Amino acid sequence: MKTYPDRQSAITLLKKYNTDPFHIQHALTVSEVMRWFAKDLGYEEEEEFWATVGLLHDVDFGQYPEEHLQWAPKILAEVDASDEFVRAVVSHGYGICSDVEPVHEMEKVLFATDELTGLIASAALVRPSKSCQDMEYKSLNKKFKTRSFAAGCDRDIIQRGADQLGWTLQELMQKTLEAMKATEETIAEQVKALV
Ligand SMILES: [Fe+2]
Repeated sequence: MKTYPDRQSAITLLKKYNTDPFHIQHALTVSEVMRWFAKDLGYEEEEEFWATVGLLHDVDFGQYPEEHLQWAPKILAEVDASDEFVRAVVSHGYGICSDVEPVHEMEKVLFATDELTGLIASAALVRPSKSCQDMEYKSLNKKFKTRSFAAGCDRDIIQRGADQLGWTLQELMQKTLEAMKATEETIAEQVKALV
C-alpha cells in the first residue's frame, strides 16, 4: 500500500525543514516534472505519488547538507510515509550519499531529473527571456558540454541517470526540457504562493 502525505501536509513538512527559497523552488520544480513524467510514461494513476516524492526528495538537505538522506527516513516518518516512499527518496542519492539503488522507473526518473532540472533552470536564467520556453535541445546540449557552466550540476550523474533509464542522454534531455516547458508556468505560480 502506497501511503504518502497529502499535498498540504507535504508542503508543511517541506517548509518546516527548508527555509531557503532556492530549495523550495527546486522541490516544486522536481515535483511538477515528476508529475509530468508519471503521465508521459503511463503511470497516470500514480501521478500524485510521483509528485509528492519529488516534492520531498531533498527534505533533509536544508538542515543536514553534510548528512543528506541520512535524516530523510526520520523526517518522513512524521507524515507516515510508507517504506516505498522513503526508499524512493533515499535512492536518488545512489552512489553519492546512499547505497539504495533506483529500481522502479519512478526512482530512476527522480535520479535523472534531479540534477538535470537544475541545469535547465540555470540555462533558462541566462537567456534574455529568462525562460526555457524558447530553449532548444541543441542549446541545452551545448550548456551540458560546457562544464564550467553551472559547474555544480554534475554531468556524470545526469549521464548515469540516462543510463539507468536505458535512454540516451539526448532522449533524457529532450524529454526533461519538454517537461520543464510544460510545467514552467505552474511552478512559477506555486513558487509565488510559497516563497
Ligand atoms: Fe534535488
